[in-house]
Amino acid sequence: MKLLLKNKRALITGGCQGIGLAIAKSLAQEGADIVLADLKPREQAAEEIRALGRDCVLCQVDVTDEAQVVGMFEKLGGAPVDILVNCAGTYGPVKRIAEMDRASWDSAFALNMTGTMLCTREALKGMIARKSGNIINIASNVARRGLVDRGCYVSTKWAMLGFTQTVALENVSYNIRANSILPGPVDTPHLDEVMKIHASRDAITLEAMATSWRDGAPMKRFIEAEEIGKVAVFLASDMSSAMTGQGINVTGGFIMT
Ligand SMILES: NC(=O)c1ccc[n+]([C@@H]2O[C@H](COP(=O)([O-])OP(=O)(O)OC[C@H]3O[C@@H](n4cnc5c(N)ncnc54)[C@H](O)[C@@H]3O)[C@@H](O)[C@H]2O)c1
Repeated sequence: MKLLLKNKRALITGGCQGIGLAIAKSLAQEGADIVLADLKPREQAAEEIRALGRDCVLCQVDVTDEAQVVGMFEKLGGAPVDILVNCAGTYGPVKRIAEMDRASWDSAFALNMTGTMLCTREALKGMIARKSGNIINIASNVARRGLVDRGCYVSTKWAMLGFTQTVALENVSYNIRANSILPGPVDTPHLDEVMKIHASRDAITLEAMATSWRDGAPMKRFIEAEEIGKVAVFLASDMSSAMTGQGINVTGGFIMT
C-alpha cells in the first residue's frame, strides 16, 4: 500500500506529548521522518516514533526564543522540513479581560502566536526555495467563539486563523499550503489541569465539569489525540491538495461553522 507521506520530513513543535506526539505518530505511520521540537524533549517520545520504522530527531527548543528557533532550523538545514506543525501552545491565564494582567497575556501570545510566527518564518525559507511545503497550525474551537475567563487564549487562537490565511495567500505561488485544525476538548493531561481550574472557579467537582464539557458536543465525548493526527495526515498529504487557508473543526459536532 502506498504511504501518503513517503520521503517527507515533518517538524512538530510541542511534539513530545499530547496532541503533538499523536500527530507525529500519525505522520510517521504514513511514512514521514520526524523532528520533535519541544521545550521538554522526551527520549521516550522519539523511541515511539522510531518503533514505527521512521527516523526521529529530538530538538530542545523554546519556540518563543528567536535565536533558538533560528539555530534549530540552521542545524536541520541539510535536510528539508517539508511539513511544519505548529502545536506548542498554552491555555493561558484563566481570567476575565477586566482582571487581565499584562505579563500573563504577553506570555500566552509569545508562545501561541510569536512562536508560531518564528517557526513558520524559518520553515518558509527552505519551503520557498524548494517551491514546496505544508504548514499546519493547531488552533482551537475557541477560534470560532468567545469564552468567559479565557479571553487571552481565545484571542491567540482567533489570531492563528488570520495568520494561517495570510501565510496561505502569501505562499500559494510557491506551492506551499497552510491550514489550521480547530480541536474541541482533547483528552490530554493538560485538559485535566484546565478543567480543574474551571471546576474550582465554578465551585463544582472535576467530574461535573468534565461531564458538562463532554455534553457540550453532539458526540458527547472528548476527542482522542489520534483523531487530530488523522486530520493532520489529510492536510499534510495530497488528499487535501485543493485546500489552503482553511480551518478544520474537529469538535465532535460542537462547532459547525
Ligand atoms: N487538549 C485540548 O483539549 C486542546 C484543544 C484545542 C486546542 N489545543 C491546542 O493543541 C496544542 C497542544 O495541546 P496539548 O493538550 O497537547 O498540550 P500539552 O501541554 O499536553 O503539550 C504541549 C507541548 O508543548 C511543549 N511546549 C510548551 N511550551 C513550549 C515552548 N515554549 N517551546 C516548545 N515547546 C513547548 C510542552 O513541553 C508539551 O510537550 C496547543 O496549542 C493547544 O492550545 C488543545
